[in-house]
This record gives sequence, structure tokens and C-alpha cells, in this order.
Amino acid sequence: MSGVPPPSDLVAEHVVLRDVELDVRRPRDLEALVDADAFADGEFLPYWAALWPSAPALAEQLMDHVGPGDRVLELGCGLALPSLAAARRGADVTASDWAPAALELLADNAERNGVRVEPLRLDWFAAGAATDDRWPLVVAADVLYEARNGPALLAVLDRTVAPGGEAWIADPGRRPARAFWSLARERWTVDVLGDPPSGAPAVRRLRRRDRPAG
Ligand SMILES: C[S@@+](CC[C@H](N)C(=O)[O-])C[C@H]1O[C@@H](n2cnc3c(N)ncnc32)[C@H](O)[C@@H]1O
Repeated sequence: MSGVPPPSDLVAEHVVLRDVELDVRRPRDLEALVDADAFADGEFLPYWAALWPSAPALAEQLMDHVGPGDRVLELGCGLALPSLAAARRGADVTASDWAPAALELLADNAERNGVRVEPLRLDWFAAGAATDDRWPLVVAADVLYEARNGPALLAVLDRTVAPGGEAWIADPGRRPARAFWSLARERWTVDVLGDPPSGAPAVRRLRRRDRPAG
């Protein structure tokens, strides 16, 4: 898998959310990061290196609802804007991704924005995805872009959301997400947070109706 490019190949994205300004550094050229071997082995593409449209929507919901002491896990964090925003509100945040480079750049972006975010390597497709911990709030932005992600993500939510906890998933309405929502509604109560304008990414809240897995 490709690593973080040298500083000269990074650009800074200035993001204003609510009352907070964040500087997120990202690779300038996504295509330069594509690695044929990594794609052959697990269809890895460097999606972590871009800021996707649902991330600001999720970050704003977190800024409205979390505060000091709240524990949050982000899945598929990429550049981790929601994690950085929640950490700015004082939350105790863990950000996870399967791409080591995303976690490497996270350390730099957290320091740049004056916050601490705990990195966690977590691959939704790895057997028993690598954590025994559970969180009252598990969040993700723009992770439903491939049909195969849906069932894997539901299994990860089952293992990582604490009893009585919630998951918030932000999505811009991608077609592969539809199957995920039908499957999710079998076991979770789903509603939309806030009042997103038509066509804008929505943040959906999932609350478990049954008991979590072991
Ligand atoms: C479309 S990007 C969204 C990134 C970020 N959440 C955002 O909205 O800007 C999808 C993210 O999910 C991560 N991802 C994809 N497959 C994964 C897997 N099997 N396990 C963990 N993370 C994965 C990618 O590395 C990438 O960071």
C-alpha cells in the first residue's frame, strides 16, 4: 500500500465548520498513489487521501452533539475530518482505517489542529476485525460506495457499538448504500439527524433493537 507522500506533495485544505476552523493536509495527487499490487491484493484504492462530501456533514453533527468525555470511534476515517472536529469539542476520539498511510497522516493533522486522536488499524474484512473495545458512538462518512462494504460494516457495528449505543453513518445517497439500509433496518432503528437540504449528504442514526453479538 502506498504511504504518505513527502510534504512537498501535500496540500492544505482549510475547512470552516460551525465556529471552528480546521487545516487538513492531504496528498495533492490521488492518482499518483494508486498501487497496482495493492489493488490486486484486496482491491485497495487510496480513497483515504481525499476529503469526501459526507465528511463535513458528519463533522457538523458531531460538533453539535458531542463534548468533553464522550467516546467516539470513526470507521474508514480517511483524512478524519469528523474525528478532528469531535476532538476539538473535547471528545475522546479513536479514528480507524485499513490504510496505514491514513493513520500516519492523521497523527500529523491532529497535531496541526491541536487535538489528540487515537489511531486504530481496523479492516472491516479482517476476521473478527481488530478490536475488543466498544464505543457508545461509532461514526463513518462515505463508506457505502461499494456493495461489498455494507454487510462487512454491519458486522463491525455489531462488534463495536456498546449496548445502548448508536452509529451515525453519513452518505450522499450512493446507489450501493440502498442494500445496506434495508439490511440495517432488520436489526436497527434508523432515522436522519438534523434536516439536510434535498440532495445533500444525510447523517443517519442507527439504534440497535436487539442484543449485540457476544
Ligand atoms: C470514500 S473514503 C471516505 C473517507 C472519509 N471517511 C471521508 O468521508 O472523507 C472510504 C474510506 O474507507 C476506508 N476503507 C475502505 N475499505 C475499508 C476496509 N475494508 N476497512 C477499513 N477501512 C476501509 C478507505 O481507506 C477510506 O478511507
